[in-house]
Amino acid sequence: MTSIAVVGSQWGDEGKGKITDFLGTTADLSVRANGGNNAGHTIDFDGKEFKMRLIPSGIFAAKLGAVIGNGVVINPEVLLGELDNLEKSGIDTSNLKISNRAHVIMPYHVMQDTYEEEAKGSLKVGTTKNGIGPTYMDKASRIGIRVCDLIDPETFAEKLRFNLESKNALFTKVYGKPAMDFDEIYNKYVEYGKRIAKYVCDTSLYVNDALDKDEKVLFEGAQGIMLDIDQGTYPFVSSSNSVSGGIASGSGIGANRIKTVLGICKAYTTRVGAGPFPTELHDETGDKIRDIAHEYGTVTGRPRRVGWFDSVALRHAKRVAGINALSLNLLDVFSGFDKIKICVAYDLNGEQIDYYPANLKEVEACQPVYEELPAWEEDITGAKSWEDLPEKAQAFVKRISEITGIPVVTVSVGPDREQTIVLQDPWTL
Ligand code: GDP
Ligand code: IMO
Ligand code: MG
Repeated sequence: MTSIAVVGSQWGDEGKGKITDFLGTTADLSVRANGGNNAGHTIDFDGKEFKMRLIPSGIFAAKLGAVIGNGVVINPEVLLGELDNLEKSGIDTSNLKISNRAHVIMPYHVMQDTYEEEAKGSLKVGTTKNGIGPTYMDKASRIGIRVCDLIDPETFAEKLRFNLESKNALFTKVYGKPAMDFDEIYNKYVEYGKRIAKYVCDTSLYVNDALDKDEKVLFEGAQGIMLDIDQGTYPFVSSSNSVSGGIASGSGIGANRIKTVLGICKAYTTRVGAGPFPTELHDETGDKIRDIAHEYGTVTGRPRRVGWFDSVALRHAKRVAGINALSLNLLDVFSGFDKIKICVAYDLNGEQIDYYPANLKEVEACQPVYEELPAWEEDITGAKSWEDLPEKAQAFVKRISEITGIPVVTVSVGPDREQTIVLQDPWTL
């Protein structure tokens, strides 16, 4: 059994897509297990760029193709748009498989997300307004519509009618908004169902079969551990489990079938949306990082909040997700900087702590304790090996490894597939 789970170890956008695509070149099967089209995973190779929302980033390279697991919430319109785009670019998507157990994002979920955010005012989460939260809410309430229901027009009509009644009551009576029309949604979604039916199957059988045959299976997490519904900075989180446990339940495999949990991190930290961020920079250094790394949301285009590397959050991620290898991305961003800071602990009311508090008031009161390292002058975007990295860049990578207690196995020095330095082959861990 050979498997790697790629997980975001910060607040998302760590470069999971890039590393999944890179590892995809040596993988057999690629599997997405959580989140929905709130994810935006950027992939660059052969001078082309793709921004993936739902389809696993391994679709470009993995031999057996790609699977959208049961833990993913699927907006069929976005999925079909993504499929069309890939096909137009000459990418073979015939190997895609979609779980019959995955839940469907309906138009009323998108509206509910929007109205809820409006109603929360200053307490809003800053969601991507893609209906992610309301879809997982309905799943937990056991009223959700699954892919197997969508492709069965009778069941679909029954479930849609039931749901729309209560959603319309909520929209009109609580939010004072217009009701949504059954026929309009039904006719459109039945057509979507027909188009995706050929990809639908019991993906748990397919993925477990691949593992049984010793195929190399690459799981791709979405979001980041700090956005996990249980382990993140609740309530400023997404609505699924982005930890490795979520990858197991979201793809229908046993937890013991994940061999390596590869945490993806940036050489600094970013966050989109609201919520605490102890190492956030509100100065020209933050602006400089944002400019150099083009830190604007892949999905919403919002400027990403930027801050120094936070090893307290990273060690939290390591513990709750069982991260046993690290990919350190965007190292190239610090070329030409004077110094780089790493947060090693928090000061909470005069006491140094090494855990991420659950209570957000405490998080707000935490002052980062920094260690400073010198940066390097050289452009490293062409570095191919460890030896090509300047000594100061090597020292930074080693320090991240020491401070997090996780071996850094890959270093990324640019967005392209080729700009990846392998220190240890993650498949052999
Ligand atoms: P994901 O959601 O974790 O897949 O990450 P995103 O794609 O949303 O954001 C990561 C951004 O960083 C994308 O624009 C990538 O092209 C880019 N990127 C990834 N790795 C590197 C790197 O090593 N250096 C630079 N400069 N950009 C990178
Ligand atoms: P990838 O996979 C960064 C954030 C949103 C918001 C919060 C809740 O590209 O790393 P949601 O729409 O999920 O209800 O929003 O979570 N968020 C992400 N931030 N990267 C992502 O995905 C994200 N997915 C959700 O900005 O703060
Ligand atoms: Mg992203």
